Amino acid sequence: MVKIAPSILSADFSAMGEAIKKLERSGADLVHCDVMDGSFVGPITFGGQMVKNIRPLTRLPLDVHLMIEHPKTQIKFFAEAGADIITVHYEACAKISPTYLKETLELIKSYGIKCGAVVNPDTDVERIFDVFDICDMLLIMSVFPGYGGQKFIPTALDNVKKAREYAARIGKGDLDIEIDGGVNLKNAAEIRAAGANVLVAGSAVFGAEDMASAISALRG
Ligand code: DX5
Ligand code: ZN
Repeated sequence: MVKIAPSILSADFSAMGEAIKKLERSGADLVHCDVMDGSFVGPITFGGQMVKNIRPLTRLPLDVHLMIEHPKTQIKFFAEAGADIITVHYEACAKISPTYLKETLELIKSYGIKCGAVVNPDTDVERIFDVFDICDMLLIMSVFPGYGGQKFIPTALDNVKKAREYAARIGKGDLDIEIDGGVNLKNAAEIRAAGANVLVAGSAVFGAEDMASAISALRG
């Protein structure tokens, strides 16, 4: 089943509560929360307090995408705030130690929530094959993280296909594969065909005249 995860990065931060309720009414499947630290990526967005405050406003799962250095130090805050799934970047972990990604994923699981690894468009998804067995979801970036509204990088679909094939090979054919960045009504069909089943969309959802129709069109 294809799921749509609108990114609240494209919402009006001064009216976040309303935005969350509107997403739920419009048929979103998850709420994608883009956490940026001003170091792993240039901008700063928000931390665990935002997740804590939106938690009571919706029954939708909160999908927290950590674009931060040293993610292990922050897991506790997001887990206790009510995240349902937390994803961490391979690139942030690999520069600390070869085992840091696995340790971080295990830490997330220790809170009884779902975990996932993320790769940037210029990272071969093979780099995270060794953690597929722990992951509930993989996140394939189709833009370089940091900003909403960027153009989709088509080579990201190679990572999606490779991930889908490898997941099937190890008996995890139903693993969630999420794609993030530049997803829109024009490229959604091709993205789904490549094997992604969770589509993040910021501008395509928040910029749409009719949010509910945009979400159902993205789902296909
Ligand atoms: C990029 C973020 C994305 C982004 C998606 O750093 O991780 O979630 O907000 O926005 P669009 O769909 O506008 O590319
Ligand atoms: Zn994201």
